[in-house]
Amino acid sequence: MKIFKNKFYDFLIFGANGDLTKRKLLPALYNLEKNNCLNNNENIICIGRINLSNKKYINNMYKSLINFVDYKIDIKIWKKLSKKLLFINVNINNIKEFIKIKKLINNYDKIIISYFAVPSNIFENICKGLSYINLNHKNVRIIVEKPIGNSLNTFKIINNKINKFFKEKQIFYIDHYLGKEMVLNLFILRFSNILFLNIWNNNFIESIHINVYEKIGIEGRWNYFDKIGQTRDMVQNHLLQLLTIIAMKPPNIFNSKNIKKEKIKILKSLRKINIYSIKKNTIKGQYINGIIENKKVPGYLEELDSNVNSKTETFVSIRAYIDNFQWMGVPFYLNTGKRLINKKSEIIIYFKKPAVNLFKKYINYLPNNKLIINLQPKESININIINKIPNLNHKLILKEINLKFDYKKIFNYKYIYDSYECLLLEVINNRKYLFVDKKEIELSWLWIDNIINFWKINNQKLYKYHSGLSL
Ligand code: BG6
Repeated sequence: MKIFKNKFYDFLIFGANGDLTKRKLLPALYNLEKNNCLNNNENIICIGRINLSNKKYINNMYKSLINFVDYKIDIKIWKKLSKKLLFINVNINNIKEFIKIKKLINNYDKIIISYFAVPSNIFENICKGLSYINLNHKNVRIIVEKPIGNSLNTFKIINNKINKFFKEKQIFYIDHYLGKEMVLNLFILRFSNILFLNIWNNNFIESIHINVYEKIGIEGRWNYFDKIGQTRDMVQNHLLQLLTIIAMKPPNIFNSKNIKKEKIKILKSLRKINIYSIKKNTIKGQYINGIIENKKVPGYLEELDSNVNSKTETFVSIRAYIDNFQWMGVPFYLNTGKRLINKKSEIIIYFKKPAVNLFKKYINYLPNNKLIINLQPKESININIINKIPNLNHKLILKEINLKFDYKKIFNYKYIYDSYECLLLEVINNRKYLFVDKKEIELSWLWIDNIINFWKINNQKLYKYHSGLSL
């Protein structure tokens, strides 16, 4: 993994004290360090609003690293990484304060990778500030976190502002689900196995379920989450990305341009949900208090800083259809919610049943064959089929059994890399195929905007569910 060693780069992280940095970016940097993928002489300039000494920041980050990962931290590696962390407080509304960043960059010819781990309404100020200190030259790459804006219109406004300072090729629109090992494997599973290639259509598939269930609540992010809700936070990006990868046709060539072309075709064929279909095809919910892992947890309206009148959804289920020859009539269920009993992201493909049940005498209900792809946390591929239970007198006792391919066991991995470390490496290498295209973001917003507008018009019911709900 030393191929990056001859490239000199610095990281800038805006939002250095935020949830994303603590939960995802820091563990990713730690693992990159552990795998010897970082240079020895780069700086990771961490930019936050509050005034903290570097020492205090590093201490805080160490505590949060321990809190967010479930493996043991090697203190030697942490020390090596923490030497690269330079915390500064910058008021990004004051352009002159960006000079503080300039002072920390010792070589302007380096590649600068700047991560905007902050809400998108402040992207413009960061862009202005970076350009003020000439940090928008061709060697600067920016990674922008989703969701960008909260509608198609606001996305376009923010993106146009970014485009005043950065060219499209410098911008990496991140959707961290695209960096997950199992998501990447979807391409391989689908396009290199004849077993699946030829039955991947409405002749053989009955329905597809994309479930992204989370155990955590909003984790102190009320101010962000309440304006956004689960649909914009998760469906507009992660679930629609999964849907496009599951539904797209094989690209002519496996490269970024062709993959995006096929994904865009799917997004364009997504059937718009309208005033008549909104009630039938969507459900939204909000968690109330409950019990998770034997502990009482508060409801959404009892969270820190909450507004008790909020109607924001923390759960959503959408039945989507793709109007093309391949998928006409096949429902795609997009289900995602917070504070559910377990964390689990999975894709379940239900195949159609054989036209005739030859064994009716022995099993009157023939279950659908299923392909279950567990994306996380227990990466595996499962196929459910009907099989005979062996017995002496050859009685036909039939049972649904599960053929399981467990990633960690088969590849003998204790830890499967997380998406952020993989995607940071992609940016270092200037490769974009695991990043989203601007057009994909626009089409996703268009589809989501429609749903959210009809919810408002229809005054759609918000169901309450207990935290710890098992689905
Ligand atoms: C983020 C959302 O994009 O994804 C969070 O903003 C969510 O609300 C997170 O918790 C889930 O990511 P993962 O990788 O833990 O499934």
